[in-house]
Amino acid sequence: MINSFKYIYEKIRCAESTGARCVGIEVDQERCEQAQININSSSVSSRCQIICGNALEYDYSNGTAFFLYLVPRGLKLILPLIRSQCISNFRIVTYMSPLPNETPAQMCKVSTAHQPGAEWPLFLYHFNCNSQND
Ligand SMILES: C[S@@+](CC[C@H](N)C(=O)[O-])C[C@H]1O[C@@H](n2cnc3c(N)ncnc32)[C@H](O)[C@@H]1O
Repeated sequence: MINSFKYIYEKIRCAESTGARCVGIEVDQERCEQAQININSSSVSSRCQIICGNALEYDYSNGTAFFLYLVPRGLKLILPLIRSQCISNFRIVTYMSPLPNETPAQMCKVSTAHQPGAEWPLFLYHFNCNSQND
């Protein structure tokens, strides 16, 4: 389960490398359409789905791992929603911004294909379903 990122490359890579079923949610119609094009031309289109809609109105109860690329305000809004719906322990990775008021289990820096010298942060969090950050 992956939420809100442009063009959904991360979701496709995730589905390719893990076999997971991946769902992306993006509110911007044009980005959704581009993401769908990228999914259609991938080898994992049967396991990837893009939903064009508001990520704050989605049911996350089946999600086990979340990739969140949102501004800090969006992160602050979505975390309580995911926590309140969980039925199993789950992980969250955020890109660029950490989750407000949470301590990451791990942090690393990554570059992108079009910015090979960049060092953009990724933050990993583990949560149990009693809403505690491990
Ligand atoms: C930090 S940006 C990430 C994309 C980034 N601008 C880029 O260039 O790759 C946040 C993304 O989340 C989307 N977004 C913001 N609020 C959202 C919401 N409530 N539901 C779904 N998507 C949302 C935006 O449309 C945007 O594509």
